[in-house]
Amino acid sequence: MARKAAIELSEVRRYLEPGPVVLVSSRHGDARDIMVMGWHTVMEFTPSLVGCVISSANHSYELIRASGECVINLPTTALLEQVLGIGSTSGADIDKFQAFGLTPEDGEHVRAPAIAECHAQFECRLHDATLVERYNFFIWEVVAARAQTVPAHPETLHYKGDGTFMVSGKIIHRRRTGLK
Ligand SMILES: Cc1cc2nc3c(=O)[nH]c(=O)nc-3n(C[C@H](O)[C@H](O)[C@H](O)COP(=O)(O)O)c2cc1C
Repeated sequence: MARKAAIELSEVRRYLEPGPVVLVSSRHGDARDIMVMGWHTVMEFTPSLVGCVISSANHSYELIRASGECVINLPTTALLEQVLGIGSTSGADIDKFQAFGLTPEDGEHVRAPAIAECHAQFECRLHDATLVERYNFFIWEVVAARAQTVPAHPETLHYKGDGTFMVSGKIIHRRRTGLK
């Protein structure tokens, strides 16, 4: 067994950070915005619940909190430059749809605009806000979802911190009874 070195507790996220980096789009009144999000987790199949941390320092926070809605959009590696731009600027200063050449699309069930260039779009309504005050943790119900059918396994970005991304790769299938 290879030896292990202690790691800073604040670095734990680098090992456990879960799914792909996503773009969260929101609207409140005439204001719209997009932020990058890596801290999200699936919480339930039915209803489809997703939890995530949205810092109150982000411009998106107020739009999302006030509207109780957002769209979680899944970008592929083709949108890396946009992800970097969106994640390093504030919607208080610029309109990120315009600034990064992204196309807003009307949602089916929410007023928040979806991002046309993304591989998948998940329309979300606030399901539970009890952890927002204390942890900035929002629990969403996905009320509509759509995704491109090809490619079946898009190349997604997974954040390791400090500007380092892991790219999704090899797919393996190991189907068996009891695995969901
Ligand atoms: C890869 C990546 C992942 C991020 N994950 C989160 C996150 O999970 N929660 C969060 O509040 N901010 C996260 N951020 C930071 C926001 O996306 C960033 O502060 C953004 O500029 C906020 O935009 P806004 O002020 O227009 O809302 C992340 C940034 C990057 C680059």
